[in-house]
Amino acid sequence: MKIALIGYGKMGKEIEEIAIQRKHEIIYKFDVNDSNFTIDNLKKADIAIEFSTPNSAYQNYMKCFEANIPVVSGTTGWLNHKEELQNYVKANNKSFFYASNFSLGVNIFFKMNEFLAKIMNRYSSYNIDITETHHIQKKDAPSGTAITLAEDIINNIERKNSWINEETKDTDKLYINSLRKVNVPGTHTIKYKSDVDIIEITHEAKNRKGFAEGAVLAAEFLIGKKGIYNMNDLLNL
Ligand SMILES: NC(=O)c1ccc[n+]([C@@H]2O[C@H](COP(=O)([O-])OP(=O)(O)OC[C@H]3O[C@@H](n4cnc5c(N)ncnc54)[C@H](O)[C@@H]3O)[C@@H](O)[C@H]2O)c1
Repeated sequence: MKIALIGYGKMGKEIEEIAIQRKHEIIYKFDVNDSNFTIDNLKKADIAIEFSTPNSAYQNYMKCFEANIPVVSGTTGWLNHKEELQNYVKANNKSFFYASNFSLGVNIFFKMNEFLAKIMNRYSSYNIDITETHHIQKKDAPSGTAITLAEDIINNIERKNSWINEETKDTDKLYINSLRKVNVPGTHTIKYKSDVDIIEITHEAKNRKGFAEGAVLAAEFLIGKKGIYNMNDLLNL
């Protein structure tokens, strides 16, 4: 595949390495304010892999769709445009793959979270919170992964109706605690606490390779398909 990378930061560089190992060709590495980042140049690629910033992602997707190439994206923090994007992709027969987290381990962890939430729905003596820890350069909080975890809990636990990113006494709100520390690729913990014990599950990324591998596999999967896909389609867990 001829790949155009959009966003050549920490993730862009990891993806380049994995894509080359898997015999793909990186024909462009577009970053901010790049005069080569044009629709004509995008048309030369088979696919775009987009890991940029919350504020630029949506515009970048639209540019790729104008060039009529499929997009795989892992940028977080743009989901205020989610509905608009879904409608556009469906109406215009485009191809889009999105995951708040591309690692196999995290997607297994998502399933464990759902399973545990279904059980814990019956046990109201447990309160629940999520803690996510990331490197200090991360622009959005809470993380996209924490939001996915929170939504899966809210969908399965009747006593929680929404998530909140600050401590609260409102028991129907699920607290997501966001911590920022140097050199942490991403750690997520879900805790169920009662007066007598604590049940806790954690996923800790050791580096960014797992995310990058998932993104390249998603690109291989998306070629030739139309519509919107996510990690459930790729992994069939
Ligand atoms: N889904 C996942 O599995 C996953 C994993 C890790 C990171 N992320 C997300 O991916 C995004 C990128 O993460 P990162 O760690 O590589 O960040 P980073 O800050 O290292 O890299 C982002 C790059 O995008 C560039 N950029 C800014 N505006 C741009 C524009 N308009 N067009 C093109 N490029 C632009 C920046 O200059 C920078 O080089 C973040 O939103 C992060 O939360 C997702």
